[in-house]
Amino acid sequence: MKNKLIYLSVAIAFVAFTSCKNEVSAQSDSNETKGYEGKEITAEFDAEIDKLVAQMTLEEKIGMLHGNSMFTSGGVKRLGIPELKMADGPLGVREEISRDNWSPAGLTNDFATYYPAAGALAATWNTEMAYTFGNSVGQELRARDKDMLLSPAINIVRTPLGGRTYEYLTEDPFLNKKMAVPMVVGLQDNDVMACVKHFAANNQETNRDFVDVQIDERTLREIYLPAFESAVKEGKAYSIMGAYNKFRGEYLCENDYMLNKVLRDEWGFKGIVVSDWAAVHSTVKSLNNGLDIEMGTPKKFNEFFLADKLIAAAKAGEVSEAEIDKHVKRILRSLFQVKAMGGKDRVKGSIATEAHYQDAYKIAAEAVVLLKNENNALPLKLEDVKSIAVIGNNATKKNALGGFGAGVKTKREVTPLDGLKNRLPSSIKINYAEGYLERYDEKNKGNLGNITSNGPVTIDKLDPAKLKEAIDAAKNSDVAIIFAGSNRDYETESSDRSSLKLPFGQEELIKKVLEVNPKTIVVMVAGAPFDIEEIKNKTNALVWSWFNGSEGGNALADVLLGKINPSGKLPWTMPKKLMDSPAHATNSFPGDRTVNYAEGILVGYRWFDTKKVEPLYPFGYGLSYTTFAFDNAKTDKKSYTVDETITVSLTVKNTGKVDGKEVVQLYASKSDSKITRAAQELKGFQKVLVKTGNSETVTIKIPVKELAYYNVETKKWTVEPGNYTLKLGSSSRDIKKEVNVIVK
Ligand code: BGC
Repeated sequence: MKNKLIYLSVAIAFVAFTSCKNEVSAQSDSNETKGYEGKEITAEFDAEIDKLVAQMTLEEKIGMLHGNSMFTSGGVKRLGIPELKMADGPLGVREEISRDNWSPAGLTNDFATYYPAAGALAATWNTEMAYTFGNSVGQELRARDKDMLLSPAINIVRTPLGGRTYEYLTEDPFLNKKMAVPMVVGLQDNDVMACVKHFAANNQETNRDFVDVQIDERTLREIYLPAFESAVKEGKAYSIMGAYNKFRGEYLCENDYMLNKVLRDEWGFKGIVVSDWAAVHSTVKSLNNGLDIEMGTPKKFNEFFLADKLIAAAKAGEVSEAEIDKHVKRILRSLFQVKAMGGKDRVKGSIATEAHYQDAYKIAAEAVVLLKNENNALPLKLEDVKSIAVIGNNATKKNALGGFGAGVKTKREVTPLDGLKNRLPSSIKINYAEGYLERYDEKNKGNLGNITSNGPVTIDKLDPAKLKEAIDAAKNSDVAIIFAGSNRDYETESSDRSSLKLPFGQEELIKKVLEVNPKTIVVMVAGAPFDIEEIKNKTNALVWSWFNGSEGGNALADVLLGKINPSGKLPWTMPKKLMDSPAHATNSFPGDRTVNYAEGILVGYRWFDTKKVEPLYPFGYGLSYTTFAFDNAKTDKKSYTVDETITVSLTVKNTGKVDGKEVVQLYASKSDSKITRAAQELKGFQKVLVKTGNSETVTIKIPVKELAYYNVETKKWTVEPGNYTLKLGSSSRDIKKEVNVIVK
């Protein structure tokens, strides 16, 4: 394993002073003391590339600019240029797909590790886990002899209904970029390309093929772009995937502003822009506006916009050969960079190894979020337990595959029930009952996610026999655990959810089980918020698990039984009601042909905190089996200039009875700001292991430029001078200490 983390001993704060002294070159150039830095695409191979391009025919060049199978773009065999081989995706390396249609190729060597979905990864709040994730998947990708992973997916979670919420990291741009960069670096340390998607402003599935997203410039810069910018500038991602939808009237795969101006001119991106599958709508325009490779769904590959039509356009003089060469060279540079052009000692990789399953386990174990734990209901104390009722379809439901979109074919997916069987002593009897059935109204199933449809899509009536079985199991057991939530058929790409209601009659089931056995623990297996307020009020113990990978069931059992002390924190706000969340409160989701992000910069907790709306569970929330006290919060100085870095330190004491990990979260707030601002914004975090009775010192570095806002008048990141309050907490709503600093 190659670990190329670069530890920078000093913060490099590069500040370009322009007309105003508090304008900074860009917000996210900021490097912290410990950083992850990717490798630059170099000019090392340019002479060789020029020679190759000089020998290529127009047809051969254009062959490299579009898919020649479902997941490859063309090569030029006679010149030793291989096809560029891609694979999905966010949950691990997807199984091999046939060359000319979506059906699986039926290989036997493409079983892979199923990694926890991105929402789970974000819930670890641990950047080392993000590196591990990237690096581990990168090795699997090489074992499959691929060049590019269509991952990470880093769109902002704008609405809790988003069908791909589980695939994305978070609602917060800072957490997003801090997790995205190490993921990209870890992946690319294996001689492969990350393809960071979906660039950008692709935050809903509803109408994604045509909806025109309108976002004001400040919001775009502060919320939707930072993680992409950091993935490019710090992570040095070799490729970016253009999104399906339009942005300010132009499709994102032919969007001059986004692809040429922002991505390449401003950020200096040297890599490849790949289209989302069938997201291209033009030939010359797409090419001129920055797209390099068109990928798509089955139709004849020569009928793609960047295939025969481009040859004809070139022959007709509508596009110059020099323009075509520019795109071909970008692809060749990245191919050389990852040693796909016959470079020696390219990483060979390995797949579905025990070490990789353990990587998945580690991430899963840190992702589980403890939401409620009255009377120390958890961890389970087995001395008094002879039998446990395990209830719910989600106890056995598998999520590596399912729904529309990329999954993983795996030989190992430990379900919650399997996990308990693996971890519980054989003397304890498990009484399993399915409880609820995953059922759809077949006539209406196509309407799943049609948020305007009123017809029933899921069948929410419980089957009486199944209900009785569950109640009997709960009555006859010392403890009951219900595994509820959703699954990857219900939460899926290509459709948003129509409400936050738990499907399949689960709420009724949970209430009835709680009535007969108050010692019932509720575990939610889901990737996005649900309306669980009543359940929260009725149960003593509530746990959030995710589509949590190959080892998810083992990790969950270890949390329930106390072998693992939970340390996950929510990466998004759980609203009490849908209408409390910003896109819905402003009636600006999903739009029709246009969607206007009316909440502006107030996405996620920024809205809840500024408008003083009480969430069900706040951003950054998660309990532990121990307790922590924060003390001695201080900064290294009182006042700073824009090019300095604020060092905040505090001690975290473990005041409980077991070792545990806490995530110290730092939010910045400027209450006397002259501009509209969110009440507070995450600007730093650090996860720390503290042994029982011990204290640890946590140091968080914040380059002052992180406090900048995007000034639309000057088009510059600007740090407002004056007082700032730095709030240190264990969630966005549990601030334990505050320190004030002055920016000159
Ligand atoms: C998705 C992408 C994915 C591609 C190829 C598209 O529908 O939006 O995320 O990489 O399909 O499977």
